[in-house]
Amino acid sequence: MRKQFLMLIIATLCIFAPFISLPQNMSKTESTDRKWWKEAIVYQIYPRSFKDDNGDGIGDLKGIISKLDYIKSLGVTAVWLNPIYTSPNDDNGYDVSDYRNIMKDFGTMDDFDALLKGLHERGIRLVMDMVVNHSSDEHEWFKQSRSSRNSPYRNYYHWWNAERGTPPPRYSLFDVNHDAWRYDSLTNAYYLHYFSRKQPDLNWENPKVRQEVFDIMKFWADKGIDGFRLDAFQFAAKDTTWPVFPKGYEKNFTKYYAIGPHLHDYLKEMYNEVFSKYDVMSVAEGAGNSFRDAHDLVDADRKELNMAYAFDAVDVAKPDGYSLVHLKEVFTKWDNEFAKKGWLSIFLANHDQARMVTRFGNDNPQYREISSKMLTTFIMTMRGTPFYYNGDELGMNNPGFKSIRDYRDMATLNEYRHQENIGADMRAYLERIAFECRDNGRTPFQWNGTANAGFSTSKPWINVNPNYKTVNAAVQEKDPNSVLNYFRSVVKLRKDNPVLVYGKYTLLDKQNPDVYAYTRVLGPKRLLILLNFHGHNAKAITGINMDKAKVLLGNYARPSTNGELRPYEAVVYEL
Ligand code: NOJ
Ligand code: CA
Repeated sequence: MRKQFLMLIIATLCIFAPFISLPQNMSKTESTDRKWWKEAIVYQIYPRSFKDDNGDGIGDLKGIISKLDYIKSLGVTAVWLNPIYTSPNDDNGYDVSDYRNIMKDFGTMDDFDALLKGLHERGIRLVMDMVVNHSSDEHEWFKQSRSSRNSPYRNYYHWWNAERGTPPPRYSLFDVNHDAWRYDSLTNAYYLHYFSRKQPDLNWENPKVRQEVFDIMKFWADKGIDGFRLDAFQFAAKDTTWPVFPKGYEKNFTKYYAIGPHLHDYLKEMYNEVFSKYDVMSVAEGAGNSFRDAHDLVDADRKELNMAYAFDAVDVAKPDGYSLVHLKEVFTKWDNEFAKKGWLSIFLANHDQARMVTRFGNDNPQYREISSKMLTTFIMTMRGTPFYYNGDELGMNNPGFKSIRDYRDMATLNEYRHQENIGADMRAYLERIAFECRDNGRTPFQWNGTANAGFSTSKPWINVNPNYKTVNAAVQEKDPNSVLNYFRSVVKLRKDNPVLVYGKYTLLDKQNPDVYAYTRVLGPKRLLILLNFHGHNAKAITGINMDKAKVLLGNYARPSTNGELRPYEAVVYEL
């Protein structure tokens, strides 16, 4: 009992104690105002693919619990879990049919409570996914809503009565015809679904819907969770006068859909009802269409959200490569824009992206490890809260799926049918998805070299990457130079150096096509980061005298001391 109490105190201290004090003479701006969520290192777990405990081929909460010590060993300070609520799994949990219960595949509420406790005991916070732009069509609200035009739940969703004719076109990302209006004969009306037909959009104009959502959030906050990631929230508010958009609007639908009328009112309400009452962090998926939009979401004085994540940077990588100069431009303009006010997150991958090393590094066996380490160095040395995707710490890469039968993602399968319907070149489509489909990032976590990569005792819901015998956590634990152990050391570097969280970022040698070079400066502390993004030797012209530079960390056994970089070399210097 006493021991438990002591553990609890230690865990609480780990969570709440700021790790190191900042320099006294540091200039005071919103961006240097210390917050735990700015200092957090978030590890994203895709529960379906992390660890299967009961041997049905699907990852589950007990599986995550069995790996808590591994998670702790990474040094990360928060975990973001993709949705774990009851769901028919049209979109792997992003279609929620009961927001207050746990998906059967994943376990029970007791499992959840044990998971939360296990994380907190280890000083790790938990961020939950809130999917409230839409629900599942199997949610009781939608069942009622669809049952009759007079249902008290009718206005929980967006309906268009068919006697008005067909509704003004709206684009669905996931629908096989890309039509976001679905006709429902029961009440002779169309309902709106920006995502799949099984994900009807909730009507945020209805105050009852908002209250339901806030109550759900409080239910989880009362359980003691530490944050919310708001799924697709930039799309929640709609212009319900349903204007007709110009031809071709769908090519840039975010411009028409994002940050609709009253979105900020809804967020302020959410802040007053939920965020202001708990010590929770909030992060929105999507940041609108402009810096102004993004600031309006996250600036502290707005009292809306803590941070958002924009897609500009992850969208840079294309099947035929990308320009580093362009990538630098994108990250730099976002950083500069938020240097004084507001806060962002930093990421190169998540469950909606193919693997980071395949897209941004080089997953050729010769360079897979070294380029993974380089990309990890990048994420952990930038300003903004890092969101790091599970498996990237092993350097997991795209699995090289060849057939459409390898894929599970509903959006991809629907798009495949769509491409067939329009007579597209299907070979080219398969090549494209082998590079960019999000299933590439959803293959089972590679724990060891035994059957199914130690993820499950039976056939996993999606195939394991065939390289699991060589690329896995067990092998890497034993190797001090593994990608995994390197990840641990970069995490530690960030935790030991507040300059990496709060320090000013300055891009150097911006036209250099190979090297990403920047400084991070906080008071007297000055770090220089050099990253070679390519497979040949390269050097940055930084104008910095390296004579006194001290290497803090590098991804080669003997890091470059003079700024001459080998393929994919990454070095962090103290100046
Ligand atoms: C964004 C989520 O990250 C993605 O996985 C999901 O399919 C859509 N929102 C719809 O909820
Ligand atoms: Ca399972």
